Amino acid sequence: MLTFGTRPEAIKMAPLVREFRKYPEKFKTTVCVTGQHRQMLDQVLDIFGIIPDYDLNIMRSGQDLYDVTARVLTGMRDILTGNAPDMILVHGDTTTSTAAALAAFYRQIPVGHIEAGLRTHNIYSPWPEEMNRQLTGRIASWHFSPTPLSRENLLRENIPGERILVTGNTVIDALYMVVERINTDHNLRKSLEKGLLLAGYDTSRLEGGRRLVLITGHRRENFGTGFINICEAIKELTHRFPEVDFVYPMHLNPNVRQPIHKVFGDSLQGLGNMFFIEPLEYLSFVLLMERSCLVLTDSGGIQEEAPGLGKPVLVMRDTTERPEAVESGTVRLVGTDYGRITSEVSALLNDSTVYESMSKAVNPYGDGQACPRIVGFIDKIINQ
Ligand code: UD1
Ligand code: UDP
Repeated sequence: MLTFGTRPEAIKMAPLVREFRKYPEKFKTTVCVTGQHRQMLDQVLDIFGIIPDYDLNIMRSGQDLYDVTARVLTGMRDILTGNAPDMILVHGDTTTSTAAALAAFYRQIPVGHIEAGLRTHNIYSPWPEEMNRQLTGRIASWHFSPTPLSRENLLRENIPGERILVTGNTVIDALYMVVERINTDHNLRKSLEKGLLLAGYDTSRLEGGRRLVLITGHRRENFGTGFINICEAIKELTHRFPEVDFVYPMHLNPNVRQPIHKVFGDSLQGLGNMFFIEPLEYLSFVLLMERSCLVLTDSGGIQEEAPGLGKPVLVMRDTTERPEAVESGTVRLVGTDYGRITSEVSALLNDSTVYESMSKAVNPYGDGQACPRIVGFIDKIINQ
Protein backbone atom coordinates (compact mmCIF):
# COMPACT_ATOMS: atom_id res chain seq x y z
CA MET A 1 0.00 0.00 0.00
CA LEU A 2 1.34 3.41 -1.00
CA THR A 3 0.10 6.20 1.24
CA PHE A 4 0.40 9.92 0.55
CA GLY A 5 -1.58 13.10 0.94
CA THR A 6 0.04 16.29 -0.34
CA ARG A 7 1.04 17.58 -3.79
CA PRO A 8 4.79 16.86 -3.56
CA GLU A 9 4.28 13.37 -2.13
CA ALA A 10 1.84 12.60 -4.94
CA ILE A 11 4.27 13.81 -7.63
CA LYS A 12 7.04 11.68 -6.13
CA MET A 13 4.91 8.58 -5.46
CA ALA A 14 2.99 8.59 -8.76
CA PRO A 15 5.81 7.05 -10.86
CA LEU A 16 6.24 4.41 -8.15
CA VAL A 17 2.55 3.49 -8.25
CA ARG A 18 2.87 3.12 -12.02
CA GLU A 19 6.01 0.98 -11.71
CA PHE A 20 4.38 -1.41 -9.19
CA ARG A 21 1.32 -1.71 -11.40
CA LYS A 22 3.46 -3.04 -14.25
CA TYR A 23 3.75 -6.28 -12.25
CA PRO A 24 0.24 -7.37 -11.17
CA GLU A 25 1.45 -10.98 -10.94
CA LYS A 26 3.89 -9.95 -8.21
CA PHE A 27 2.13 -7.19 -6.31
CA LYS A 28 -1.36 -6.25 -5.31
CA THR A 29 -0.78 -2.49 -5.29
CA THR A 30 -3.21 -0.30 -3.40
CA VAL A 31 -3.17 3.47 -2.97
CA CYS A 32 -4.44 5.21 0.13
CA VAL A 33 -4.56 9.00 -0.06
CA THR A 34 -5.16 10.98 3.09
CA GLY A 35 -6.31 14.06 1.20
CA GLN A 36 -4.18 16.31 3.48
CA HIS A 37 -4.25 18.47 0.36
CA ARG A 38 -7.47 18.30 -1.62
CA GLN A 39 -7.32 20.35 -4.82
CA MET A 40 -3.51 20.26 -5.14
CA LEU A 41 -3.47 16.48 -4.64
CA ASP A 42 -6.28 15.88 -7.10
CA GLN A 43 -4.40 17.88 -9.78
CA VAL A 44 -1.56 15.35 -9.54
CA LEU A 45 -3.78 12.25 -9.39
CA ASP A 46 -5.50 13.41 -12.58
CA ILE A 47 -2.26 13.96 -14.49
CA PHE A 48 -0.84 10.56 -13.60
CA GLY A 49 -4.19 8.79 -13.96
CA ILE A 50 -4.25 7.40 -10.41
CA ILE A 51 -7.58 6.46 -8.84
CA PRO A 52 -7.02 5.86 -5.12
CA ASP A 53 -8.41 2.73 -3.50
CA TYR A 54 -8.95 4.65 -0.25
CA ASP A 55 -9.38 8.36 0.30
CA LEU A 56 -9.48 9.63 3.90
CA ASN A 57 -10.45 13.10 2.65
CA ILE A 58 -9.13 14.75 5.81
CA MET A 59 -8.40 18.31 4.62
CA ARG A 60 -10.08 21.20 6.42
CA SER A 61 -9.45 24.84 5.61
CA GLY A 62 -6.83 26.25 7.99
CA GLN A 63 -6.08 22.82 9.52
CA ASP A 64 -3.33 22.61 12.11
CA LEU A 65 -0.81 19.87 12.81
CA TYR A 66 -2.97 18.25 15.49
CA ASP A 67 -5.93 18.04 13.09
CA VAL A 68 -3.88 16.40 10.36
CA THR A 69 -2.11 13.93 12.68
CA ALA A 70 -5.29 12.83 14.43
CA ARG A 71 -7.37 12.43 11.28
CA VAL A 72 -4.69 10.44 9.46
CA LEU A 73 -4.19 8.11 12.44
CA THR A 74 -7.84 7.31 12.98
CA GLY A 75 -8.59 7.17 9.27
CA MET A 76 -5.75 4.67 8.71
CA ARG A 77 -6.87 2.60 11.71
CA ASP A 78 -10.23 2.07 10.06
CA ILE A 79 -8.68 1.10 6.73
CA LEU A 80 -6.07 -1.24 8.17
CA THR A 81 -8.51 -3.09 10.40
CA GLY A 82 -8.87 -6.55 8.90
CA ASN A 83 -7.07 -5.41 5.75
CA ALA A 84 -3.35 -5.44 6.47
CA PRO A 85 -0.98 -5.04 3.50
CA ASP A 86 2.47 -6.71 3.62
CA MET A 87 4.12 -3.32 3.55
CA ILE A 88 3.13 0.34 3.69
CA LEU A 89 5.20 2.85 1.77
CA VAL A 90 5.23 6.46 2.91
CA HIS A 91 7.10 9.41 1.50
CA GLY A 92 9.35 12.13 2.85
CA ASP A 93 8.55 14.46 5.69
CA THR A 94 4.92 15.51 5.74
CA THR A 95 2.58 14.94 8.65
CA THR A 96 0.68 12.48 6.46
CA SER A 97 3.81 10.36 6.13
CA THR A 98 4.66 10.30 9.84
CA ALA A 99 1.09 9.66 11.00
CA ALA A 100 0.63 6.94 8.37
CA ALA A 101 3.90 5.30 9.44
CA LEU A 102 2.70 5.35 13.06
CA ALA A 103 -0.67 3.89 12.04
CA ALA A 104 1.17 1.07 10.25
CA PHE A 105 3.37 0.46 13.28
CA TYR A 106 0.32 0.16 15.54
CA ARG A 107 -0.76 -2.76 13.33
CA GLN A 108 2.81 -4.12 13.17
CA ILE A 109 2.93 -3.61 9.41
CA PRO A 110 6.48 -2.95 8.08
CA VAL A 111 7.03 0.53 6.72
CA GLY A 112 9.19 1.45 3.74
CA HIS A 113 10.32 5.09 3.72
CA ILE A 114 10.80 6.70 0.32
CA GLU A 115 13.14 9.73 0.28
CA ALA A 116 14.74 8.59 3.53
CA GLY A 117 17.65 10.14 5.36
CA LEU A 118 17.40 13.84 4.48
CA ARG A 119 18.45 15.89 7.48
CA THR A 120 19.12 19.45 8.60
CA HIS A 121 19.56 18.30 12.23
CA ASN A 122 17.59 21.39 13.30
CA ILE A 123 14.14 20.26 14.44
CA TYR A 124 12.65 23.72 13.89
CA SER A 125 13.98 24.22 10.36
CA PRO A 126 12.12 23.13 8.37
CA TRP A 127 9.30 22.79 10.91
CA PRO A 128 7.72 20.31 11.41
CA GLU A 129 9.33 18.42 8.51
CA GLU A 130 12.72 17.72 10.10
CA MET A 131 11.11 15.98 13.08
CA ASN A 132 8.57 14.27 10.82
CA ARG A 133 11.27 12.60 8.76
CA GLN A 134 13.35 11.66 11.78
CA LEU A 135 10.29 10.01 13.36
CA THR A 136 9.34 8.23 10.14
CA GLY A 137 12.93 7.01 9.83
CA ARG A 138 12.76 5.62 13.37
CA ILE A 139 9.57 3.69 12.57
CA ALA A 140 10.56 2.43 9.12
CA SER A 141 12.02 -1.02 8.47
CA TRP A 142 13.26 -0.17 4.97
CA HIS A 143 14.85 3.08 3.83
CA PHE A 144 15.06 4.28 0.21
CA SER A 145 17.62 7.07 0.19
CA PRO A 146 17.91 9.40 -2.78
CA THR A 147 21.67 10.00 -2.45
CA PRO A 148 24.77 8.49 -0.77
CA LEU A 149 24.76 11.43 1.65
CA SER A 150 21.24 10.62 2.87
CA ARG A 151 22.37 7.01 3.36
CA GLU A 152 25.30 8.29 5.47
CA ASN A 153 22.87 10.25 7.65
CA LEU A 154 20.94 7.06 8.36
CA LEU A 155 24.06 5.00 9.08
CA ARG A 156 25.04 7.65 11.64
CA GLU A 157 21.68 6.98 13.32
CA ASN A 158 22.59 3.27 13.56
CA ILE A 159 20.21 2.09 10.83
CA PRO A 160 21.76 -1.15 9.49
CA GLY A 161 23.28 -0.71 6.04
CA GLU A 162 21.41 -3.69 4.57
CA ARG A 163 18.10 -1.93 5.27
CA ILE A 164 19.05 1.10 3.17
CA LEU A 165 19.01 1.31 -0.62
CA VAL A 166 20.35 4.36 -2.50
CA THR A 167 17.92 4.87 -5.35
CA GLY A 168 17.98 8.47 -6.62
CA ASN A 169 14.92 10.60 -6.05
CA THR A 170 11.66 9.48 -7.62
CA VAL A 171 10.97 13.14 -8.47
CA ILE A 172 13.50 12.80 -11.29
CA ASP A 173 11.55 9.80 -12.62
CA ALA A 174 8.42 12.00 -12.59
CA LEU A 175 10.22 14.99 -14.10
CA TYR A 176 11.73 13.00 -16.98
CA MET A 177 8.34 11.46 -17.73
CA VAL A 178 6.74 14.89 -17.94
CA VAL A 179 9.56 16.66 -19.81
CA GLU A 180 9.49 13.92 -22.44
CA ARG A 181 5.73 14.41 -22.89
CA ILE A 182 6.04 18.19 -23.17
CA ASN A 183 8.97 18.06 -25.59
CA THR A 184 7.58 15.42 -27.91
CA ASP A 185 3.93 16.41 -28.05
CA HIS A 186 3.55 19.77 -29.80
CA ASN A 187 -0.22 19.84 -29.24
CA LEU A 188 0.21 19.19 -25.54
CA ARG A 189 2.68 22.07 -25.30
CA LYS A 190 0.26 24.38 -27.10
CA SER A 191 -2.62 23.35 -24.85
CA LEU A 192 -0.48 23.91 -21.73
CA GLU A 193 0.39 27.40 -23.01
CA LYS A 194 -3.29 28.06 -23.57
CA GLY A 195 -4.01 26.86 -20.02
CA LEU A 196 -1.35 29.20 -18.65
CA LEU A 197 -2.92 32.09 -20.54
CA LEU A 198 -6.28 31.29 -18.94
CA ALA A 199 -4.54 31.01 -15.55
CA GLY A 200 -3.25 34.57 -16.05
CA TYR A 201 0.18 34.32 -17.66
CA ASP A 202 0.82 34.70 -21.38
CA THR A 203 4.03 32.81 -22.26
CA SER A 204 4.22 34.59 -25.64
CA ARG A 205 5.49 37.62 -23.64
CA LEU A 206 8.78 35.69 -23.44
CA GLU A 207 9.23 35.43 -27.20
CA GLY A 208 10.96 38.82 -27.61
CA GLY A 209 13.69 37.86 -25.11
CA ARG A 210 11.89 38.91 -21.90
CA ARG A 211 12.99 36.82 -18.95
CA LEU A 212 10.91 35.02 -16.33
CA VAL A 213 11.56 34.58 -12.62
CA LEU A 214 9.39 31.80 -11.18
CA ILE A 215 8.44 32.07 -7.49
CA THR A 216 6.82 29.71 -4.96
CA GLY A 217 6.55 29.76 -1.18
CA HIS A 218 4.75 27.87 1.58
CA ARG A 219 7.00 26.95 4.53
CA ARG A 220 5.40 27.18 7.95
CA GLU A 221 8.54 28.62 9.58
CA ASN A 222 8.37 31.55 7.12
CA PHE A 223 4.78 32.52 8.04
CA GLY A 224 4.40 36.09 9.31
CA THR A 225 7.50 38.30 9.10
CA GLY A 226 9.34 35.93 6.77
CA PHE A 227 6.63 36.09 4.12
CA ILE A 228 6.23 39.85 4.50
CA ASN A 229 9.98 40.25 3.84
CA ILE A 230 9.74 37.92 0.86
CA CYS A 231 6.84 39.88 -0.65
CA GLU A 232 8.51 43.26 -0.04
CA ALA A 233 11.66 41.96 -1.75
CA ILE A 234 9.71 40.67 -4.75
CA LYS A 235 7.89 44.00 -5.05
CA GLU A 236 11.20 45.87 -5.08
CA LEU A 237 12.57 43.50 -7.75
CA THR A 238 9.56 44.02 -10.02
CA HIS A 239 10.32 47.77 -9.95
CA ARG A 240 14.06 47.27 -10.40
CA PHE A 241 13.56 44.94 -13.40
CA PRO A 242 10.59 46.10 -15.50
CA GLU A 243 11.92 44.01 -18.43
CA VAL A 244 11.55 40.78 -16.40
CA ASP A 245 8.29 38.93 -15.59
CA PHE A 246 7.78 37.59 -12.08
CA VAL A 247 5.27 34.72 -11.90
CA TYR A 248 4.09 33.38 -8.54
CA PRO A 249 1.70 30.39 -8.54
CA MET A 250 0.33 30.80 -5.02
CA HIS A 251 0.00 27.89 -2.60
CA LEU A 252 -3.58 27.53 -1.31
CA ASN A 253 -2.60 27.86 2.34
CA PRO A 254 -4.30 31.06 3.62
CA ASN A 255 -1.15 31.88 5.63
CA VAL A 256 0.71 32.22 2.32
CA ARG A 257 -1.91 34.47 0.75
CA GLN A 258 -2.42 36.95 3.61
CA PRO A 259 1.06 38.57 3.35
CA ILE A 260 0.77 38.69 -0.44
CA HIS A 261 -2.44 40.73 -0.15
CA LYS A 262 -0.94 42.86 2.58
CA VAL A 263 1.99 43.88 0.38
CA PHE A 264 0.41 43.85 -3.10
CA GLY A 265 -3.21 44.82 -2.29
CA ASP A 266 -6.57 43.08 -2.50
CA SER A 267 -6.98 42.48 -6.22
CA LEU A 268 -3.59 41.09 -7.41
CA GLN A 269 -4.63 42.00 -10.97
CA GLY A 270 -2.98 44.51 -13.31
CA LEU A 271 0.34 44.55 -11.45
CA GLY A 272 2.43 45.07 -14.61
CA ASN A 273 5.25 42.53 -14.64
CA MET A 274 4.06 40.73 -11.46
CA PHE A 275 1.69 37.80 -12.02
CA PHE A 276 0.00 36.03 -9.12
CA ILE A 277 -1.77 32.91 -10.34
CA GLU A 278 -3.48 29.84 -8.85
CA PRO A 279 -1.41 26.67 -8.21
CA LEU A 280 -0.53 25.05 -11.52
CA GLU A 281 -0.98 21.43 -12.40
CA TYR A 282 2.39 19.69 -12.66
CA LEU A 283 2.84 19.74 -16.46
CA SER A 284 2.24 23.48 -16.68
CA PHE A 285 4.50 24.13 -13.75
CA VAL A 286 7.33 22.15 -15.36
CA LEU A 287 6.80 24.05 -18.60
CA LEU A 288 7.13 27.36 -16.75
CA MET A 289 10.18 26.11 -14.89
CA GLU A 290 11.75 25.22 -18.22
CA ARG A 291 10.95 28.71 -19.61
CA SER A 292 12.22 30.53 -16.50
CA CYS A 293 15.71 31.98 -16.06
CA LEU A 294 15.75 31.40 -12.32
CA VAL A 295 13.58 30.09 -9.52
CA LEU A 296 13.03 31.78 -6.16
CA THR A 297 11.45 29.32 -3.74
CA ASP A 298 11.31 27.73 -0.31
CA SER A 299 10.16 24.39 -1.78
CA GLY A 300 11.96 21.13 -1.22
CA GLY A 301 10.99 19.39 -4.46
CA ILE A 302 11.85 22.34 -6.67
CA GLN A 303 15.42 22.31 -5.29
CA GLU A 304 15.67 18.84 -6.82
CA GLU A 305 13.93 19.49 -10.14
CA ALA A 306 15.28 22.87 -11.23
CA PRO A 307 18.99 21.91 -11.21
CA GLY A 308 18.12 19.08 -13.60
CA LEU A 309 16.74 21.71 -15.98
CA GLY A 310 19.82 23.92 -15.57
CA LYS A 311 17.91 26.62 -13.67
CA PRO A 312 19.58 28.45 -10.76
CA VAL A 313 17.55 28.20 -7.55
CA LEU A 314 17.63 30.75 -4.74
CA VAL A 315 16.17 29.09 -1.64
CA MET A 316 14.32 31.35 0.81
CA ARG A 317 15.28 29.30 3.86
CA ASP A 318 18.12 29.28 6.41
CA THR A 319 18.81 25.56 6.15
CA THR A 320 18.48 22.87 3.55
CA GLU A 321 18.34 19.10 3.79
CA ARG A 322 19.44 19.02 0.15
CA PRO A 323 23.11 20.12 0.31
CA GLU A 324 24.04 18.14 -2.82
CA ALA A 325 22.69 20.84 -5.14
CA VAL A 326 24.29 23.61 -3.04
CA GLU A 327 27.63 21.83 -3.35
CA SER A 328 27.25 21.49 -7.09
CA GLY A 329 26.65 25.26 -7.28
CA THR A 330 23.14 25.47 -8.71
CA VAL A 331 21.26 26.12 -5.45
CA ARG A 332 22.01 28.92 -3.01
CA LEU A 333 20.39 29.71 0.37
CA VAL A 334 19.18 33.30 0.70
CA GLY A 335 16.90 33.08 3.76
CA THR A 336 13.99 35.48 4.09
CA ASP A 337 16.07 38.62 4.43
CA TYR A 338 14.90 41.50 2.18
CA GLY A 339 18.44 42.70 1.36
CA ARG A 340 19.78 39.23 0.64
CA ILE A 341 16.89 38.27 -1.66
CA THR A 342 17.01 41.51 -3.65
CA SER A 343 20.80 41.49 -4.01
CA GLU A 344 21.13 37.80 -5.00
CA VAL A 345 18.31 37.97 -7.56
CA SER A 346 19.75 41.24 -8.93
CA ALA A 347 23.21 39.68 -9.26
CA LEU A 348 21.80 36.76 -11.25
CA LEU A 349 19.75 39.03 -13.50
CA ASN A 350 22.50 41.62 -14.05
CA ASP A 351 25.72 39.62 -14.19
CA SER A 352 26.08 36.93 -16.82
CA THR A 353 29.19 35.49 -15.14
CA VAL A 354 27.27 34.93 -11.90
CA TYR A 355 24.39 33.49 -13.91
CA GLU A 356 26.57 31.12 -15.96
CA SER A 357 28.24 29.81 -12.82
CA MET A 358 24.86 28.69 -11.42
CA SER A 359 22.99 27.66 -14.54
CA LYS A 360 24.80 24.46 -15.46
CA ALA A 361 22.54 21.44 -15.67
CA VAL A 362 23.49 18.94 -12.98
CA ASN A 363 21.52 16.19 -11.45
CA PRO A 364 22.66 15.04 -8.05
CA TYR A 365 19.23 13.56 -7.39
CA GLY A 366 19.17 10.65 -9.76
CA ASP A 367 18.93 9.24 -13.25
CA GLY A 368 15.17 8.73 -13.47
CA GLN A 369 15.45 5.03 -12.49
CA ALA A 370 14.65 5.30 -8.78
CA CYS A 371 11.29 3.55 -9.10
CA PRO A 372 12.54 0.36 -10.80
CA ARG A 373 15.26 0.11 -8.12
CA ILE A 374 12.71 0.40 -5.31
CA VAL A 375 10.32 -2.09 -6.87
CA GLY A 376 13.13 -4.60 -7.53
CA PHE A 377 14.28 -4.38 -3.91
CA ILE A 378 10.76 -4.76 -2.48
CA ASP A 379 10.16 -7.73 -4.77
CA LYS A 380 13.11 -9.44 -3.09
CA ILE A 381 11.86 -8.59 0.41
CA ILE A 382 8.25 -9.61 -0.09
CA ASN A 383 8.28 -12.28 -2.76
CA GLN A 384 11.53 -14.21 -2.30
C1 UD1 B 1 2.14 20.59 3.63
C2 UD1 B 1 3.24 19.85 4.38
C3 UD1 B 1 4.61 20.33 3.95
C4 UD1 B 1 4.76 20.26 2.44
C5 UD1 B 1 3.62 21.04 1.79
C6 UD1 B 1 3.69 20.91 0.30
C7 UD1 B 1 2.87 19.18 6.72
C8 UD1 B 1 2.83 19.61 8.12
N1 UD1 B 1 3.12 20.13 5.82
O1 UD1 B 1 2.17 21.96 4.04
O2 UD1 B 1 5.60 19.51 4.55
O3 UD1 B 1 6.01 20.81 2.07
O4 UD1 B 1 2.37 20.49 2.24
O5 UD1 B 1 2.87 21.84 -0.34
O6 UD1 B 1 2.67 18.02 6.42
N2 UD1 B 1 -5.02 24.00 1.14
C9 UD1 B 1 -6.12 23.96 0.30
N3 UD1 B 1 -6.11 23.08 -0.75
C10 UD1 B 1 -5.07 22.25 -1.01
C11 UD1 B 1 -3.96 22.31 -0.16
C12 UD1 B 1 -3.95 23.18 0.91
O7 UD1 B 1 -7.08 24.70 0.47
O8 UD1 B 1 -5.14 21.49 -1.98
C13 UD1 B 1 -5.03 24.95 2.29
C14 UD1 B 1 -6.05 24.51 3.36
O9 UD1 B 1 -6.59 25.67 3.96
C15 UD1 B 1 -5.14 23.78 4.38
C16 UD1 B 1 -3.89 24.64 4.29
O10 UD1 B 1 -3.75 24.96 2.91
O11 UD1 B 1 -5.71 23.73 5.67
C17 UD1 B 1 -2.64 24.00 4.84
O12 UD1 B 1 -2.39 22.73 4.28
P1 UD1 B 1 -1.37 21.74 5.07
O13 UD1 B 1 -1.24 20.47 4.28
O14 UD1 B 1 -1.76 21.61 6.49
O15 UD1 B 1 -0.02 22.53 5.05
P2 UD1 B 1 0.93 22.93 3.85
O16 UD1 B 1 1.45 24.28 4.19
O17 UD1 B 1 0.26 22.72 2.57
N1 UDP C 1 4.42 22.35 -8.25
C1 UDP C 1 3.27 22.25 -9.06
N2 UDP C 1 2.50 23.37 -9.24
C2 UDP C 1 2.78 24.56 -8.66
C3 UDP C 1 3.93 24.65 -7.81
C4 UDP C 1 4.72 23.52 -7.63
O1 UDP C 1 3.00 21.18 -9.61
O2 UDP C 1 2.06 25.54 -8.87
C5 UDP C 1 5.23 21.13 -8.02
C6 UDP C 1 6.74 21.29 -8.18
O3 UDP C 1 7.15 21.01 -9.49
C7 UDP C 1 7.28 20.25 -7.19
C8 UDP C 1 6.23 20.20 -6.11
O4 UDP C 1 5.05 20.78 -6.67
O5 UDP C 1 7.36 18.96 -7.77
C9 UDP C 1 6.68 20.98 -4.91
O6 UDP C 1 5.62 21.14 -4.03
P1 UDP C 1 5.71 22.10 -2.78
O7 UDP C 1 6.67 23.20 -3.05
O8 UDP C 1 4.33 22.47 -2.42
O9 UDP C 1 6.23 21.13 -1.63
P2 UDP C 1 7.69 20.72 -1.09
O10 UDP C 1 8.45 20.10 -2.20
O11 UDP C 1 8.34 21.94 -0.51
O12 UDP C 1 7.37 19.74 0.01
